[in-house]
Amino acid sequence: MFKGSTWDFFRGGARTAAARDAAWRATAKAAPKAPTQSAARARVLCVASGKGGTGKSVVASNIAVLRARAGEKVLLIDFDAGMANAHLLLGVQPKFDLGHVLDGEVSAAFAAVPGPHGLYMISGGVGRASLLNPTPRELERLFTALAPLETEFDLIIVDHGAGLSYATLAHMAAATELLLVTTHEVTSLSDAYALYKQATVVNPSIHVGVVLNRVPDELAARSAWTRFQGAASKFLAKTPEFIGWVPHDEAVSHSVQARQPVTLRDPESPAGQAIAKISRWDAIDQIRRNGSFYDAARRALR
Ligand SMILES: Nc1ncnc2c1ncn2[C@@H]1O[C@H](COP(=O)(O)OP(=O)(O)OP(=O)(O)O)[C@@H](O)[C@H]1O
Ligand SMILES: [Mg+2]
Repeated sequence: MFKGSTWDFFRGGARTAAARDAAWRATAKAAPKAPTQSAARARVLCVASGKGGTGKSVVASNIAVLRARAGEKVLLIDFDAGMANAHLLLGVQPKFDLGHVLDGEVSAAFAAVPGPHGLYMISGGVGRASLLNPTPRELERLFTALAPLETEFDLIIVDHGAGLSYATLAHMAAATELLLVTTHEVTSLSDAYALYKQATVVNPSIHVGVVLNRVPDELAARSAWTRFQGAASKFLAKTPEFIGWVPHDEAVSHSVQARQPVTLRDPESPAGQAIAKISRWDAIDQIRRNGSFYDAARRALR
């Protein structure tokens, strides 16, 4: 994968992380820089929610793995920094995470580990205090460190922590597409509405798609969507796109236990089928960027 790129070089070669990183830095300095404008940049999809536990990581990791299986070079970044669990859902054991990247111990590319179907992921780290509430300056450092990956992947999916943090706001300010995951419950819908409102404040042109997850049936999904849409059009004079709904399905809990995405483990299950359909959301293919996502995210912090 990524033949001829610096990626090849630094996934193999030197024995220790430090040696590999030093070698990488030396090579990166020596190598002639490709003109920025001609470098293809990854499309970036942010996955967020107002309330916690709505299923963001389940949805994000399944979309990532299905898109990778379809042949895209996909990177999943778990930006639920300090409380990460996307690696558990994918059954991978990253040695390094965003915390190591932030501390300058390894480069972002080195923190990326391979997952199912050629997907790569960077973990947000578990229990690292420095990552729980990164300052704008720390975020700027992280964005700078992640920027080189934009030219290594076709698609970067960012799985956020719940609610509105600096990190989520900066990502939303830079993103063209946001996938908002909520359940049908009124508390979850209300928090999703608050997040949608903030997304449109920091980025009036952002395109937002909503997934209703863990819903008992179609009637509940319809009624929840009608309420959400009604509030958004009444108070914000704009509405997001309804992407689809995913039933509450034990197949998801079983897949979490088995550390395998439900769309791979049980593709015929109702949730597996619904998430597979969501992974084909055409807006993901239509993401167009003028410049660097991480440059825009850095500017949003100032
Ligand atoms: N459609 C579903 N049916 C049944 N259970 C589900 C479904 N979606 C998610 N779950 C369950 O909900 C749990 C939380 O899901 P997930 O970790 O994806 O939520 P999250 O929004 O990422 O949470 P956090 O806000 O903590 O990051 C999962 O462990 C899974 O068992
Ligand atoms: Mg999560």
